[in-house]
Amino acid sequence: MRRMNKEKKIKFKAEETDFKRMSDEHFKWFSRFYKLMDIFCNPNRKIKKIPLREGMRVVDYGCGPGRYMIPMTKLVGFKGKVFAVDISPPAIKYVKDLAAKANLRNVETILVDSYNTGIEESSIDLVLLLDTLHIIKDRNALFREIYRMLKEGGILFMDPGHMKMSRARKIVGSTGFFTIVECRGHDMLLYPKR
Ligand SMILES: C[S@@+](CC[C@H](N)C(=O)[O-])C[C@H]1O[C@@H](n2cnc3c(N)ncnc32)[C@H](O)[C@@H]1O
Repeated sequence: MRRMNKEKKIKFKAEETDFKRMSDEHFKWFSRFYKLMDIFCNPNRKIKKIPLREGMRVVDYGCGPGRYMIPMTKLVGFKGKVFAVDISPPAIKYVKDLAAKANLRNVETILVDSYNTGIEESSIDLVLLLDTLHIIKDRNALFREIYRMLKEGGILFMDPGHMKMSRARKIVGSTGFFTIVECRGHDMLLYPKR
């Protein structure tokens, strides 16, 4: 019982963390943690599982420190584009600097305040939602926005990260915008319901 309460508290904290107000110092620790994680869990391994193609317009929703940014921009090439979207100003600044240092011309950073990215309707081939669903407060609004920006034939690739797959499936079902077409390990491929 005690353990359950503790788990509940931890989950509650993750969902309530206000990433909008994350300080530079907090973000520094957060990105260091991710760098450490990359040693055990190489981002290139994840990239290989994502259906990225040359010329694609891709959105990395909840991009954090942009762990997938460089390999992603290489795969979509100069004809493609990657939109890095996050609610945290230090995360967006970090990705902007990363793109400038690596001279990546096909990256656009977007700092969101709510769930409005401002990205043109039906203009995106692929949205990535990696290790972010557990943090999102208004999941209905998030899926509505992803649905809105995806083209006909567009795809959502999601890794629910800290969330169990069964819970993520329930959320996808209850929000009603997407159909899960494939699940592999902790990755999901989803199509918008048209
Ligand atoms: C756990 S990190 C994952 C970062 C990255 N996707 C990865 O896998 O390395 C979650 C990210 O989601 C962002 N985030 C949280 N709520 C958001 C929202 N409503 N809109 C956009 N980004 C959000 C956080 O600021 C954070 O950078």
